[in-house]
Amino acid sequence: MTLPTNSDAGRENFRTSVIQLERPGDPSVFGEQTRAEAAEIIARYPIGQSRSALLPLLHLVQSEQGYVTADGIAFCAERLGLTKAQVSAVVTFYTMYKRVPTGEYLVSVCTNTLCGMLGGDEIFAALGEALDLGDNETTADATITLEHAECLAACDYAPIVTVNYEFFDNQTVASARELVAALRDGERPLPSRGAPLCSFKQIERQIAGFHDAETLAPDANSTGVPTEVGVRLAVERGHTAPSYAVERTDRRSAENGAATAPPTAPPTAPPTATPTTSAHDAPLNTSVSDPEHPQDSGGDAKPEPGSAATAGG
Ligand code: FES
Repeated sequence: MTLPTNSDAGRENFRTSVIQLERPGDPSVFGEQTRAEAAEIIARYPIGQSRSALLPLLHLVQSEQGYVTADGIAFCAERLGLTKAQVSAVVTFYTMYKRVPTGEYLVSVCTNTLCGMLGGDEIFAALGEALDLGDNETTADATITLEHAECLAACDYAPIVTVNYEFFDNQTVASARELVAALRDGERPLPSRGAPLCSFKQIERQIAGFHDAETLAPDANSTGVPTEVGVRLAVERGHTAPSYAVERTDRRSAENGAATAPPTAPPTAPPTATPTTSAHDAPLNTSVSDPEHPQDSGGDAKPEPGSAATAGG
């Protein structure tokens, strides 16, 4: 078995991805609607923490351009008050952010240990041969991008292939070849579980949190018998899990000791003074819940003095 290797096209892809990081980028290529949707995303996050909106914001720009361009990087930096270097660091870390144009269907073949042992490597090699593609390359008609993927969190259905992140379970070389042939013929085969297929740009829009009714399948079944084996056995045997709240309280007591435990708020204390289990559990206002902080609803966010966002880029 020979795994696909990158061709001249692959090397060109690499050059393209580097160019995207070196270009200054022009955020003005994104129109009013994108700016409004960016503000909607940012408003989901706590005041003063708008940088947390970067991940969905990158999916939003990817849904428009099919990949994260220099313009997308500049747009996200501008909206969040980050440096382009900070945005680029995130883009280059996560594989879901594509730095070269992506086809209508992103076909991901899991070649991690379990899938690889059960046929994932053969499937990836067969699809590379059938499509004449190396890893992370796209067909000339821009229909399919092929990539190998690390564990896709569906080991109980190995070997796994996903198309635009929808699952095609228990694949074989033959079934995977049929799948990509159908995609190239303009068909949209039904995934084994979850929502029906949509285009790469449409799924990116959904990941950003914008759900178009026609691409959603709210009633779609996302689990199957193998996924639920453990739960079914636990129910049959009467096994239960300890309460999450009790477990956290016990752990905190053990860590802090009774003498150093923080004082408990009196029963009459207002809700905001009530100690929380951790800083992450504290109720936080967003610009949606607190309209007195419109600056976090997008566009005018400024880096906090002394933050990393004020340096370089
Ligand atoms: S190893 Fe392939 S889905 Fe986990």
